[in-house]
Amino acid sequence: MKQFRIKPLDEILATAEKKSLHRSLGAFQLTMLGIGAIIGTGIFVLTAEAAQKAGPGMMVSFLIAGFVCAVTALCYAEMASMIPVSGSAYTYAYGVLGERVAWVVGWALILEYAIAASTVSVGWSGYMSGILHNLHSLIPFLPNIDIPAEWAAGPFDGGVINVPALFISLLVTGLLVIGTRESARVNAVLVTIKILALVVFIALALPAMNAENFHPFAPNGWVGTGVAPAAASIFFAYVGFDAVSTAAEETKNPNRNIPIGLIGSLAICTVFYILVAAGAIGSVGAQPLLDANGVGLEPGSPALAAACKGTAQLVCSKEPLAFVLRAMGHARVGNLIGLAAGLALPSVILMMIFGQTRIFFSMARDGLLPQVFTRIHPKYKTPHVVTIATGLFASFFAALFPVGKLADISNSGTLFAFLIVAAGVLILRRTEPTRERHFRAPMIWLMAPLAIVGCGFLFTQLSGYTKALFFTWAAIGLVVYISYGNRHSHLAASQRNQ
Ligand code: ALA
Repeated sequence: MKQFRIKPLDEILATAEKKSLHRSLGAFQLTMLGIGAIIGTGIFVLTAEAAQKAGPGMMVSFLIAGFVCAVTALCYAEMASMIPVSGSAYTYAYGVLGERVAWVVGWALILEYAIAASTVSVGWSGYMSGILHNLHSLIPFLPNIDIPAEWAAGPFDGGVINVPALFISLLVTGLLVIGTRESARVNAVLVTIKILALVVFIALALPAMNAENFHPFAPNGWVGTGVAPAAASIFFAYVGFDAVSTAAEETKNPNRNIPIGLIGSLAICTVFYILVAAGAIGSVGAQPLLDANGVGLEPGSPALAAACKGTAQLVCSKEPLAFVLRAMGHARVGNLIGLAAGLALPSVILMMIFGQTRIFFSMARDGLLPQVFTRIHPKYKTPHVVTIATGLFASFFAALFPVGKLADISNSGTLFAFLIVAAGVLILRRTEPTRERHFRAPMIWLMAPLAIVGCGFLFTQLSGYTKALFFTWAAIGLVVYISYGNRHSHLAASQRNQ
């Protein structure tokens, strides 16, 4: 049956040789790219949302999401070391489960990467507004600037248009058109700033911890509401490690360097997150605001916005890490942390748009998207058409939607893709047992099922609205596939000619 049109792995590897990108990235650069993609809006912004959902129990939410990502990273690393080709889960699915599943995965990855870029742009906007509001204390000869609230939030977030979010995603798109190498260098500097900011936060917040701030630990419960839904949202904080594998074709010695980049960046970020969460909760407290019946108010809802008026709470802040330090009396350091986030979050946007373009590039190379997407810029040697298309798509959503909703939508696509990759690794262990694996995931018959169950469970914990949107998006994708990809597929053409 044609929906099970499977692309032989050797053919996938050969296609990559034909239209290859320049190989310039090593293990260190990849780990930096991974950290650049991982640490971002999740820890800097969504911590407030997670606290509103779970209270101090968000420590456990971070652990659950980190665990699911760790077992999935092992699967990704094995896949990437077998198939070091652009396209990530899309390409893997093509070689294991066939074209139709691959298409749905590629379509879901648009949610993961492009919507993640929108999410981080909106997160950046929150910190940027804070920086401008405190500009005088950062740069004494400049006055404070207040962006009118309606121009710093989209229409689905109580405003008109999120101008800072729109601005940053367009700027990053321009950087990517100029070239990967230059962008990776800028990225390395920004990653350093980001790590420094988290180290300073941890150094100040951890010693100020007070055990009482951890009670009650899970005021909204564990499953259905509370800790598990917070894990499904904060999962966003870990998204990005898989973006490393999408750079496989631009990596020197990918069989060694991709696994190092994936697992190394994830491990470093997990340690940071647990310490930051503990510091934030322990120092100033992270109890959710409740309604009259003692039920936690929904993050992003008008009711929560009303409850937040006139109170200074972590769960109300759009720049929670800066808020914690200000609340502890370190106003200046808090402002500097805000500045660091403002400078560094664009590196995440960069990585997300980068990942998305490489996936589109692979899909177009297979004939499932128009060939214009494979066009390489004569001077910059980058796939400029697809980069600009992705940038415009991400900017559109960034300008209109609130950060929490975007994060959850992005997570739905990511969880689906992760689940397919974990299943694919298991299938390949059976169907291609002798193929060379430069990285073999340990205890795969335990790790991959854990990844599948973990991703499936987190998906169920997303809001009903998010799940409905995911399935609608998948249905639209199938229509596009039937009307375009199915007819233009290079694999279908070559199989017809055989
Ligand atoms: N993990 C990335 C972030 O938190 C996407 O911004």
